[in-house]
Amino acid sequence: MAAWTPESWRSKPIVQVPDYPSAKVLEDVETKLATFPPLVFAGEARELRKSLAQVALGEGFLLQGGDCAESFLEHRADNIRDFFRVFLQMAVVLTYAGGSPVVKVGRIAGQFAKPRSSPMEKKGDVELPSYRGDIINGSEFTPEARIPDPNRQIEAYRQSAATLNLIRAFATGGYADLERVHQWNMGFVKDSPQGHRYQQLADQITQTMGFMRACGITSENTPQLRTTSFYTSHEALLLGFEQALTRRDSTSGDYYATSGHMIWIGDRTRQPDHAHVEYARGIKNPLGLKCGPSLEPDGLLKLLDALDPKNEPGRMTLICRFGFDKADKHLPKLIRAVKKAGRHVVWSCDPMHGNTISAVNGYKTRPFDRILKEVETFFDVHRAEGTHAGGIHVEMTGQNVTECTGGATAISETDLMDRYHTHCDPRLNADQSLELAFLVAERMKLEREARGTPVPAAAASA
Ligand code: PEP
Ligand code: CO
Repeated sequence: MAAWTPESWRSKPIVQVPDYPSAKVLEDVETKLATFPPLVFAGEARELRKSLAQVALGEGFLLQGGDCAESFLEHRADNIRDFFRVFLQMAVVLTYAGGSPVVKVGRIAGQFAKPRSSPMEKKGDVELPSYRGDIINGSEFTPEARIPDPNRQIEAYRQSAATLNLIRAFATGGYADLERVHQWNMGFVKDSPQGHRYQQLADQITQTMGFMRACGITSENTPQLRTTSFYTSHEALLLGFEQALTRRDSTSGDYYATSGHMIWIGDRTRQPDHAHVEYARGIKNPLGLKCGPSLEPDGLLKLLDALDPKNEPGRMTLICRFGFDKADKHLPKLIRAVKKAGRHVVWSCDPMHGNTISAVNGYKTRPFDRILKEVETFFDVHRAEGTHAGGIHVEMTGQNVTECTGGATAISETDLMDRYHTHCDPRLNADQSLELAFLVAERMKLEREARGTPVPAAAASA
């Protein structure tokens, strides 16, 4: 294989690239970005890799989620807080009821660039270039907004920095303290069936904390109770931006993407001889690889050879997104091939991207029962194959949106128009996210029982 450099991807074929009007402006922006401080540190990416290594080896669970696409318009503190709150609720459900350490990775602070199935979008007689995410162009359906503007990369960088700053404060500054487990249950969720279920679980945790306090273990003297580790991730699609933020770590001499802790390669850009795989193979961050129905076992093994030649646990997370009715056909053959090759990977389930449909009124949606079904199948298949169902990857928000149909509050196709706010794909709202977490926790319990390491009785009843 030829030598890797942060720019060796430039000599490879590439798809999903924006058509910037001026190469000079683009180059100036990339030059400027290369002088900006890193958003994350290599040491943090290494910590995440270690946690994911545990998951790959069968212990722990990866919770990855956030917006399909972050937006400039919705960059508000309450949005970030509400996302983080629901994410913590999900993590607590999985940790306590599922009885497993949870690795928390947001699709946040950098999730701006979107691959599109068509380069053009048509409305009536008008055809315009597709929206590719706020880091590239604007979502408004006007010719001006759709022109890719390199300066948007600077804005995306600054928004990522501000978002990350707030999240770091939440994660370590007291908001994530387990003493506050009740306070995360707020707003519209509090009065829903999922909110009540969460309330009961929070009561049990508070009781446990009371017992621990009596034994001298408190959140004041035990940082693990007071703070949490939270990591960022995004699809590494816009490679000029990624290259500008690729830095050599002074302690190890290795290259890291400093745009986020974990990056993933999308289902549309995983051609083994193309630019996105070339870029990713040279950086040391944990990598995700989206695995859709067109990925065959041989192709997957070839990608793993390129991306993870040393077979390091925690390096690769395979994010499976087949669709509720296809997972049972595609997943077993990939699992068997990976197992036979002796490879250590984290198996994660993205139940969103294979289940997108058009509602009768034209809204793009995802039926919640199909999302649950794909997750169920994921656990069933792993159980049958004797492998570890290691994580989920979801598009979600803390807001009370109506973008996916179904769930305990039964959002109908006509309800979709009420609060349909996504800039790209439909997301789970806070209620649906919690409902999914409870279902996953049930399945985690079953997996533990099957392995002979059941969850303690008190948590098992949660
Ligand atoms: C995404 O995660 O938003 C995405 C586009 O996924 P995929 O590459 O799996 O289609
Ligand atoms: Co998406």
